[in-house]
Amino acid sequence: MPRQPPRLTTARLSLRRPEEADATEILEILSNPSVVRHNPSDRVTQLDDVDALVRRWLRHWEQHGFGNCGVFEEETGRLVGNCGVRWTTIHEERVLNLMYRFHPSTWGRGYATEAVAAVVGWAQESLPGEIVVARIRPSNRASQRVAAKVGLRRDPDFDGEGDDGLDWAFTDRAITFSSP
Ligand SMILES: CC(C)(COP(=O)(O)OP(=O)(O)OC[C@H]1O[C@@H](n2cnc3c(N)ncnc32)[C@H](O)[C@@H]1OP(=O)(O)O)[C@@H](O)C(=O)NCCC(=O)NCCS
Repeated sequence: MPRQPPRLTTARLSLRRPEEADATEILEILSNPSVVRHNPSDRVTQLDDVDALVRRWLRHWEQHGFGNCGVFEEETGRLVGNCGVRWTTIHEERVLNLMYRFHPSTWGRGYATEAVAAVVGWAQESLPGEIVVARIRPSNRASQRVAAKVGLRRDPDFDGEGDDGLDWAFTDRAITFSSP
């Protein structure tokens, strides 16, 4: 199984495996109601719960050599978000679930697009043939726009009920339509 390099870097960001010491900055993002507006079940308000979440992310890293990353602004060193892929099963098919979340103070600067493009690029190169799936609430237009900007397309075969209701799937699968 290919391992993600210690750092993925973009023009303004670097992405690396999270550490338990990142929990306080992650809590600042995940406890913010605007961040979880479309996925309220993901809200975390206690440091203990973030510690448990980071440990879960790290278990995936230990088992598979890649996973959810902390995203750092190169200029300031600040942790501004998280982004990565992890294995999940949708409709009995194993796929790479793409995740991304950023602190609202950074929204609108292209950070999500930059980080997501690096992660999807890594996945396509290192895990060829695997399907990358972003599961996005129908109301979450900003996230849909990010998915579209990195080349993912609506793929209703992978739509499904998430913890907060219907999730639309956006994937990198080359969809071919058979003629009638
Ligand atoms: C979704 C999210 C990651 C986007 O982060 P970001 O750094 O602002 O993203 P970018 O700047 O790279 O791109 C955002 C795009 O969405 C567009 N956008 C923002 N709000 C929008 C809205 N309400 N409707 C339509 N488009 C919107 C922006 O104009 C931009 O597109 P453009 O470059 O074509 O102008 C960020 O808003 C976030 O963390 N949201 C909360 C967590 C979340 O929803 N994560 C995704 C879960 S599936």
